[in-house]
Amino acid sequence: MSDFKSQFWSYWIAAITIGGIIYCMIILVTQIRAKTNKPGQEDLQPHVWDDDLQEYNNPMPRWWVFMFFATTIFGIAYLALYPGLGAYKGLRNWTSANEYEIEKKEFSDKAAPLYAQFLKTPIPELAENPEAMKLGKRMFENNCAQCHGLDGKGSKGFPNLTDSDWLYGGFPKAIEVSLLGGRNGIMPSQAASLKTPGAINDVANYVLSLSSSPHDATAAARGKTSFALCATCHMPDGKGSLSDKSLANFGVGAPNLTDKTWLYGGSVKTITEGINAGRNNVMPAWECALGREPLYVLTAYVWQLNREEGTGKVLNPTEAPDYMVDEVNKRIAGLDAQRAAAKETGQSTCLATSLHETIRKQNELAAAKALKEIVPATPAANAKP
Ligand code: HEC
Ligand code: HEC
Repeated sequence: MSDFKSQFWSYWIAAITIGGIIYCMIILVTQIRAKTNKPGQEDLQPHVWDDDLQEYNNPMPRWWVFMFFATTIFGIAYLALYPGLGAYKGLRNWTSANEYEIEKKEFSDKAAPLYAQFLKTPIPELAENPEAMKLGKRMFENNCAQCHGLDGKGSKGFPNLTDSDWLYGGFPKAIEVSLLGGRNGIMPSQAASLKTPGAINDVANYVLSLSSSPHDATAAARGKTSFALCATCHMPDGKGSLSDKSLANFGVGAPNLTDKTWLYGGSVKTITEGINAGRNNVMPAWECALGREPLYVLTAYVWQLNREEGTGKVLNPTEAPDYMVDEVNKRIAGLDAQRAAAKETGQSTCLATSLHETIRKQNELAAAKALKEIVPATPAANAKP
């Protein structure tokens, strides 16, 4: 209880607590000696309810009085042993934070061998282990459901994890990195480069035309040229940064715009909103909070959410696409090296926060680079009259 800004409040609370107990005791002791009725004289009270309901003035039953004393003694003993009187720590030096740490350690000591076993199992195999999937499901419900939904289907701004449309990849290593270090998708506002609302409306319609969603075809035709601005991240065909075989957009997280799966919504209004204000979307990092081994199990759980209806076959790839394998391995080796170096110097080996920071910086850099490469001049023909 070191949260008080001044000692006054500590004494204040202690005084109210002790004062309350003393007050109760005074009332109790003075009322025990209530008058008993004189022989032959019934101490019937004068008030009457409901025509004939009256009461006697009798002392409290003994057992009741005893209960009052017992609870008071219990209260005093409790306040002496445990924190309860202002900042006083109690004779047992007990804190709820300590208790939590002890329980957590007991649990992780028990769970460690189990997780170590899981860590040796390849993800596709682990995804078929009912015990591991039960653990994964529980972890998902406790930590992920508030954003991605209990069923993992997501909502506006929070990606659906049960389909084949991925921002960062649906193969096990990509999911694992998403969980360990978090993700931060940044799309800078394009309003300054596009200049006029007309030009923004045109390119928004062009985006909708990519997935054959309802759109204004004349506007879309005008917007095609300005899509060059967007192509640096979303790729010239609009298939998203994950489809970039040159890997210049590795980990940028620009969605595929050619399917009808939308993170925010497939209307001119939502797309215009995104182009104007930009997007900055954060998936928290989990390595420090949940630990590497549990996250491996959770990776398997997330990986197997995307199943074919009927057959139940998992639809996510088991490996990174060929053009990405080297890059993925290089990044993971880099992270392992960072962890090893941290261990050497006795620092915390959970890298989530710094890793998250690295990913964020990477994306900001990519965004800045994209902006620089873009020719700011928008052809006048794009502007609506
Ligand atoms: C506070 C909200 C929030 C919580 C909690 C959260 N996520 Fe996310 N998650 C997001 C957002 C937002 C994104 C998209 C990030 C982006 O656009 O860059 C995301 C992205 C992801 C991705 C990458 C999806 C892709 O398409 O590549 C995975 C995998 C994921 N989350 C899994 C999880 C798991 C598992 C948990 C629980 C440990 C979790 N998330 C908890 C908000 C959250
Ligand atoms: C610097 C890279 C970058 C550039 C340039 C860029 N975007 Fe994006 N865009 C992203 C990222 C990253 C996201 C995902 C943001 C998130 O996760 O919230 C995104 C999201 C979107 C979405 C939301 C998709 C959905 O599923 O709801 C649309 C639409 C979009 N961009 C269109 C455009 C258009 C049009 C342009 C050009 C005028 C453009 N973007 C330029 C990186 C970029």
